[in-house]
Amino acid sequence: MPETIAEAVARRRTFAIIAHPDAGKTTLTEKLLLFGGAIQLAGEVKAKKDRIQTRSDWMKIERERGISVVTSVMTFEYDGNVFNILDTPGHEDFADDTYRTLTAVDAAVMVIDAAKGIEPRTLKLFEVCRMRDIPIITFINKMDRESRDPFEILDEVEEKLALDTAPVTWPIGRSKTFCGSYHLADNTVRGSDTEVTPTKVNGPQSVADRLPENEREAFVEEVELAIEACKPFDQEAFLEGHMTPVFFGSALRNFGVRDLIDALGEFAPPPRDQVADIRKVHAGEDRMTAFVFKIQANMDPNHRDRIAFARICSGKLERGMKARLSRTGKQLGLTAPQFFFASQRQLADTAYAGDVVGIPNHGTLRIGDTLTEGEPLVFQGVPNFSPEILRRVRLEDAMKAKKLKEALQQMAEEGVVQLFSPEDGSPAIVGVVGALQLDVLKERLSAEYSLPVSFEMSRFSVCRWISADQPADLEKFLATHRGDIARDLDGDPVYLAQDGFSLRYESERYPAIRMAAIKEYH
Ligand code: G4P
Repeated sequence: MPETIAEAVARRRTFAIIAHPDAGKTTLTEKLLLFGGAIQLAGEVKAKKDRIQTRSDWMKIERERGISVVTSVMTFEYDGNVFNILDTPGHEDFADDTYRTLTAVDAAVMVIDAAKGIEPRTLKLFEVCRMRDIPIITFINKMDRESRDPFEILDEVEEKLALDTAPVTWPIGRSKTFCGSYHLADNTVRGSDTEVTPTKVNGPQSVADRLPENEREAFVEEVELAIEACKPFDQEAFLEGHMTPVFFGSALRNFGVRDLIDALGEFAPPPRDQVADIRKVHAGEDRMTAFVFKIQANMDPNHRDRIAFARICSGKLERGMKARLSRTGKQLGLTAPQFFFASQRQLADTAYAGDVVGIPNHGTLRIGDTLTEGEPLVFQGVPNFSPEILRRVRLEDAMKAKKLKEALQQMAEEGVVQLFSPEDGSPAIVGVVGALQLDVLKERLSAEYSLPVSFEMSRFSVCRWISADQPADLEKFLATHRGDIARDLDGDPVYLAQDGFSLRYESERYPAIRMAAIKEYH
């Protein structure tokens, strides 16, 4: 019997890993893929991160700075479930990319370094997850090293994130003596991740002899205290984002990773309903819907293509089908949708809600686009953040102004930068959330378009999307501020201000004008 849509959807788990750089996200991703059979050898993902890459020229920036610019997706199957990991750039200069990716997941794994606890990036990413009610599973990593007391880490999570914690496992030993995890509710034990199935035991005493004599009593006491004093795991509270189940392990030494995969399968939700402008879309519906959360150019140097990453929200995508692009109302043939594995891609014949497919295109698709089987609905919520840095692009060869305009338009469509065209006809202004994005822009303009550029300060430092309930109010504001108004890629008006002071001043003077720091693609 072929699988029904409902069955296929029920076994999908789509999640991201959020972490402060160096907490072990790459190592953990790699181990998940390894145990899921998606890669053969430990070291492939790590090597991909470290090795001199050959993927494309502009990725030089990534190599040189040892950061991951690109968001990609990796899929593996484990114990009957299909897991889609959406990878996010670690560096905060690419935060907008990360935030958009988080709109495409149903759960997140929060990796915490056991010695460092909650670090700034973890906190920030957590806040985005909370805004979107994304349930979070916590993995306390690096238990094989000197670490903080587990109770202390749990307290920190509760205090800093205002999130209830429910330790599901407890570490057996610490640093050098760390040798596995004890499942508090099930009374089972897993040594290293080579043990696929945990072993039933008779209370913590029965495993204490795995530890040196002087640690045994403390271990038994801790487990008893954890069972008594910590809250038990509550699935509903987890799904509502009030509680996080906690696991302890060492991604590097293969401890706790299988506990985490089991938890993703058991607790993490299947694809959630998605909010569109005209109605809510259920993942199990028959008809295919999807939205684009990321565009990536030139993933393969042999094919200078552009890939739109689309998350399927409902139904079944079949290769060869036609989809309607809501923004233009035009049909788009999905002739070569692709799945991505650790390092390869493969044609996707069928994909279901929760899956992410790459759709090759030559500029037809943009971030935030909705695809359907005909229904004119538009998914909400893919955010666009007002840039922190605004610059004018200075071209070394003034003859190439037209080419620059086209190139900037393309870069803006891909979400590399935002582009604002001033109403008074002065040259375009680019906006970015982090300075490294300017480096990427410069590198790509040079490598892909042979356009050497530099950046000049603009007299503006803040920008806001403006709107008003009464069109006349907006018209009046536009007319009186013409020199400070620009249009974004979609033609929506933005107000450019010199600084925070003039922004506040103008918004007080014109209370009818909404000045938004975040725009949702529509
Ligand atoms: P990231 O993607 O979150 O930035 O972290 P990544 O996995 O690259 O890990 C950061 C460093 O922490 C790496 O060491 C990695 O080997 C180490 N690490 C990850 N998980 C564990 C763990 O469970 N235990 C211990 N002891 N170390 C862990 P590195 O020295 O930067 O890289 P490498 O030279 O080891 O490759």
